Amino acid sequence: MTSLNILVTGTSRGIGKAILAALPDHKVAGHSSAGGEGRIAADLSQPGAAETLWREALARLGGRIDVLVNNAGVFEDNSIDDPHDAWIAQWERTMRINLTASAELCRLAVLHFREEGGGRIVNIASRAAYRGDSPQHWHYAASKAGMVGMTKSIARGYAADNILAFTVCPGFTGSDMVEDYMASRGGQKVLADIPLGRIAGAEEVAETVRWLATQAPASATGAAIDVNGASFVR
Ligand SMILES: NC(=O)c1ccc[n+]([C@@H]2O[C@H](COP(=O)([O-])OP(=O)(O)OC[C@H]3O[C@@H](n4cnc5c(N)ncnc54)[C@H](OP(=O)(O)O)[C@@H]3O)[C@@H](O)[C@H]2O)c1
Repeated sequence: MTSLNILVTGTSRGIGKAILAALPDHKVAGHSSAGGEGRIAADLSQPGAAETLWREALARLGGRIDVLVNNAGVFEDNSIDDPHDAWIAQWERTMRINLTASAELCRLAVLHFREEGGGRIVNIASRAAYRGDSPQHWHYAASKAGMVGMTKSIARGYAADNILAFTVCPGFTGSDMVEDYMASRGGQKVLADIPLGRIAGAEEVAETVRWLATQAPASATGAAIDVNGASFVR
């Protein structure tokens, strides 16, 4: 198998860490907000951070990136009962980390891939993109729906340049992001809503990402793949 140069965001834990583990045959640049353990540091809530991350990853990977995986994301409460300015600030924070930073990286990747003769993008969205989310998470669902629309646009716009783009839409997945909720009484309700009877393992999402990033046929470009135990089928 050809070794690919891959940038994966948000690899300090959860799904991102599992994606790293699923790509042992490739050269991977990992990332998190604070860095550490070889990861590139870039706080994606800050304007300009995504571009700095891309440049640093390019340098580490010898000037060529074959695959971009946008995985970093936040799932933070935002109640409409909070003061207006606080609600707007939380909306904008989530949009910047989950969508705008990913869009910046996608733009830089597409520009790079056009020069290099092609490449792949795998964006991690969510079941929430299609199903919606709780009253505290309008911003999260909107950011992930934006991710799906953006990825399909990239797939349609640049397939002729050998640039392929895919979205993965996990449902509840074992990671820090859902650990507290699953431990609460809400966890039982979640399980009752999943025909498979359990939440997804991070390694199951990672395996889907690995396949899309390295092996999925070109004709699958534009696909959004669900990994949710049939808790939401569309
Ligand atoms: N777990 C689920 O149930 C689930 C379901 C659907 C979709 N997803 C999506 O899957 C992706 C990974 O989720 P996860 O469950 O693995 O989450 P997680 O365990 O909370 O990990 C999130 C990752 O994103 C990074 N990150 C967060 N804020 C950042 C920032 N401001 N700048 C840079 N990096 C930042 C974190 O790095 P730091 O160490 O810097 O914080 C961490 O590596 C997310 O996009 C999430 O929306 C998850």
